[in-house]
Amino acid sequence: RTVLSVTSECVPLIKTGGLADVAGALPAGLAQTGWQMRTLLPAYPGLIEKAAAKKKVFAFKDLMGGPAGVMAGQAGGVDVLLLDAPHLYDRPGGPYGNPTDFPDNPVRFAALSYAAAQIARDGLSDGWTPQVLHAHDWQAGLAPTYLKLGGDHDVATVMTVHNIAFQGLAPAAMLGAMQLPISEFTSEGLEYWGQISTLKAGLVDADAITTVSPTYAAELMRPEFGMGLDGLIAHRAADLSGILNGIDMDVWNPETDQEITAYSATSLKGKAKNRKALMAEFGLSKIDGPLAIVVSRLTSQKGMDLIADTADQFVAMGGGLAILGSGDPAIEDQMRMLARNHPGRIGLRIGYDEALSHRMFGGGDVVLVPSRFEPCGLTQLYGLRYGTVPVVAATGGLADSVINANVMAQTSNAATGFQFHPVDSLAFGHCLRNVTDQFGDKSGWTRLQKRGMKQQLGWEASSAAYAALYERLLA
Ligand code: ADP
Ligand code: GLC
Repeated sequence: RTVLSVTSECVPLIKTGGLADVAGALPAGLAQTGWQMRTLLPAYPGLIEKAAAKKKVFAFKDLMGGPAGVMAGQAGGVDVLLLDAPHLYDRPGGPYGNPTDFPDNPVRFAALSYAAAQIARDGLSDGWTPQVLHAHDWQAGLAPTYLKLGGDHDVATVMTVHNIAFQGLAPAAMLGAMQLPISEFTSEGLEYWGQISTLKAGLVDADAITTVSPTYAAELMRPEFGMGLDGLIAHRAADLSGILNGIDMDVWNPETDQEITAYSATSLKGKAKNRKALMAEFGLSKIDGPLAIVVSRLTSQKGMDLIADTADQFVAMGGGLAILGSGDPAIEDQMRMLARNHPGRIGLRIGYDEALSHRMFGGGDVVLVPSRFEPCGLTQLYGLRYGTVPVVAATGGLADSVINANVMAQTSNAATGFQFHPVDSLAFGHCLRNVTDQFGDKSGWTRLQKRGMKQQLGWEASSAAYAALYERLLA
């Protein structure tokens, strides 16, 4: 059983968000079910060396403006196929831009999708052919379409939506450069309000659509969440499923994490040490209430304005806050202001720092995830694993992964965290008060932490669900 995964990011090679974590962890999970996944991604600068990708397994004389090849290698246990196309990917900056998006991104990722379709159709020179093509987000959205355009084939296709906010929009004038026939540019096809949408192409042409939680699957069919694609997704409801992400249980393990003093669900002693160290690192003074952490892209999706709105209240209740994030400059400024207004109580690091994020999960009492929408979310899962109790908006994957400490969940000893709804500062502030109260009950709090730490958070269930889906499609 073989499947080609197509993505623009993959841990440990390149990451800007959760997509990379998922792309990097799914193959190992699937291997347990008998599915061999190989992962195609662009050869951004340095990746060929990092993955020791020396074997050329596919060649293009011309891939949208220049010669290209596919190099096979290994990274963190992932079988990677690096699309080496210097005219598209050999440039400084992040995967999407430097610092703003590259203007030829539609072509860069059309090429990725085109290469995927080509590999699916012809197989690689090492004899490998995929039975399933699995496309992630808008960057791979055109792969099922190119496959269809090439004529008859027997490869099943899956389109996974990690975030509907990014739709791969491009001006219609780029159809030619993206090697798309005008016949596809219709409202039943990849046309979206006069533009090309590569995500829409995938949603139309893939055999199955998945997203990364059951609740987000249901939300995507509604105008409040579908961002204009809700009608199309509702139309394909029979082919839609939500499969909750897992986490890498080895990378995120408080018993072996090199960044922290080790601890476990049987003994949380080490966590108190980590808390002290974290407070020192963020310049925080003594905090009697919960020490909250935020590890997040700073964008409107993530509801950071709710943190700003409730910060005074939370600090007045005795809470403290350590924030790590980067993104929207206006939100970064808002966070700087918070830290300035609450010296010793709110600490801030603007930037991206994987190691620090581990120390934060190791030392925090709660992790705040007040997202307006959240397809899955991973930080609440890391929180559960580290006994850092998640406080989340009741939306998307956050709703599916945290058991809210409501009255019944508490009396039946089932709660693992806190949810609030609707997603506004009134509900969030009220929830934070509840969190602070519960934090005062030390033995109840410890039970809450330990319960979270014992949750099933790995990839077993999710990879079994993907494997079952692939099998259904091939049958
Ligand atoms: P999204 O993909 O929407 O950003 P997720 O919760 O799925 O949200 O994944 C975000 C991933 O990026 C997590 O692994 C999180 O720990 C990580 N992350 C986000 N911001 C930072 C940061 N500033 N430093 C380190 N890790 C970060
Ligand atoms: C997206 C979503 C996030 C999800 C991640 C991985 O970036 O915003 O909720 O966890 O993809 O699927």
